[in-house]
Amino acid sequence: MAIRNILGERDTGLYKNSRIVTDFNKRLHLLLDDMRDTLADANGLGLAAPQVGVLRRVLLIVEMRNEDDELIEDVIEMVNPEIMETTGEQSGSEGCLSVPGLYGIVVRPESVLVRAYDRHGKQFEYRGDGLTARAICHEIDHLNGVVFTSLAKRFLTEEELENMRAQREEDEAEDRQ
Ligand code: CO
Repeated sequence: MAIRNILGERDTGLYKNSRIVTDFNKRLHLLLDDMRDTLADANGLGLAAPQVGVLRRVLLIVEMRNEDDELIEDVIEMVNPEIMETTGEQSGSEGCLSVPGLYGIVVRPESVLVRAYDRHGKQFEYRGDGLTARAICHEIDHLNGVVFTSLAKRFLTEEELENMRAQREEDEAEDRQ
């Protein structure tokens, strides 16, 4: 396992269409393992294969679930994901590991139903709501060569970024208690 280099917004690879995965082999498992390491190292909420220079329809989503007042962090692997159904709408700020420091307001569905394959080629369905729905749409966009900056209605101001950082620090302080 290894940490791979995350491409930046100037890299043309980010704007290309990724190909379907047909072989659920060791090469795919190595890619997924490396992507997990890369995502953990970057402390992100999601990562798509084209971001590490591999034009394959593979992505990771970090799901935060609050069950019994406990925060559980779970990384979900999706191969060849397809959105089957969307419900509602949400407007909120969004960022990307390939565009560090920039956040924009993007409209996304409130809930999405996805059909995907796991690393062994087994099909599954997954419903994501709220932030998870946003992350899924953002990562699937990457597989189609779309970066969130092209969808943002506007970008957050320096003041809004400061508020967001302050809020995050507060949340983290609460989590530690
Ligand atoms: Co991104």
